[in-house]
Amino acid sequence: MKSILVEVCAGTHCTMMGAMNILDAIHSLEEFQADISGVCDIRVVAIPCMNLCRDTAQGPFVRVDGRLIPQAESESVMAAIMSRCQQTAGKE
Ligand code: FES
Repeated sequence: MKSILVEVCAGTHCTMMGAMNILDAIHSLEEFQADISGVCDIRVVAIPCMNLCRDTAQGPFVRVDGRLIPQAESESVMAAIMSRCQQTAGKE
């Protein structure tokens, strides 16, 4: 099963911009987890500041399998995860 890495920046700027809400949303959406279980294994980690916030106020930043999502919201992160899951599932 393909593993998808979701990295949520937990630095000060991104936390103030709502990164923890995104983390909570990913963890608590069991319906979402049920949809993708058996197809993709989602690994969610909080990471330190990526230094992207220094020149821009576009946080919170999230990466889904290396693809950066600026101004991330729960919905956009979920959509990116689902899209990535479908892409990788199609390749196996
Ligand atoms: S706090 Fe997230 S990039 Fe700096």
